[in-house]
Amino acid sequence: MRNFITIEGCEGVGKTYQTNLLKQYCREMGYDVVFTREPGGSDIAEQIRKIILDANNSDMDDLCEAFLYAASRIQHLKDIVKPALNEGKVVICDRYVDSSYVYQGIGRGLGLDKIVKLNEIAVGDYMPEFTVFLDLSPENAFKRKGGADSNDRMEAIGYAFHLKVYEGYKRLIAENPARFEVIDASGAKEQTQAKLRAALARRGVFR
Ligand code: TYD
Repeated sequence: MRNFITIEGCEGVGKTYQTNLLKQYCREMGYDVVFTREPGGSDIAEQIRKIILDANNSDMDDLCEAFLYAASRIQHLKDIVKPALNEGKVVICDRYVDSSYVYQGIGRGLGLDKIVKLNEIAVGDYMPEFTVFLDLSPENAFKRKGGADSNDRMEAIGYAFHLKVYEGYKRLIAENPARFEVIDASGAKEQTQAKLRAALARRGVFR
């Protein structure tokens, strides 16, 4: 069995913070877990990430954006995810295909079907065993974060877009209830971390 886990959520939910805490916990416990992220995660994929997120690239076509995310994913799978899974390691990835489904498919309005097809080509059967969704509405997330980062092309798009993304996640969760572990991220950071660890334990990641 593969142990491929992804973490998803809207901007400002504290995903990076929670993932870092989890990484620290795994290190302390001696769990051999590979933590990685998208877009990026390996040399070439990180170079693609820079192009995607560069605020100067405001003219980027939405479909070009979708292909760049998929291209970064292909390289990252080859360099990091597949080798680690083949060695029997647990891989926890901060964002993966669900981000493309909701940001490009639903948020950008390219259509979920099209983005699912594109990503079938990119990932083949490398779908996550399960996906943690850190649940916090964009309204609360931006409040907590103190506004969007104008240097980040995706964050700067605006509230209506991020609301569509959030609703997109809710749709994916409704359509794939068995794959998602939904965690309420509106409470204290420590509470969210405890729920995250409990979800991983429940799914048999930490034994
Ligand atoms: P990042 O700074 O890593 O944001 P976060 O901390 O919220 O994960 O930037 C990644 C951005 O790219 C984020 O706005 C979500 C977006 N994204 C997509 O639009 N499609 C994708 O397939 C992926 C992986 C990310």
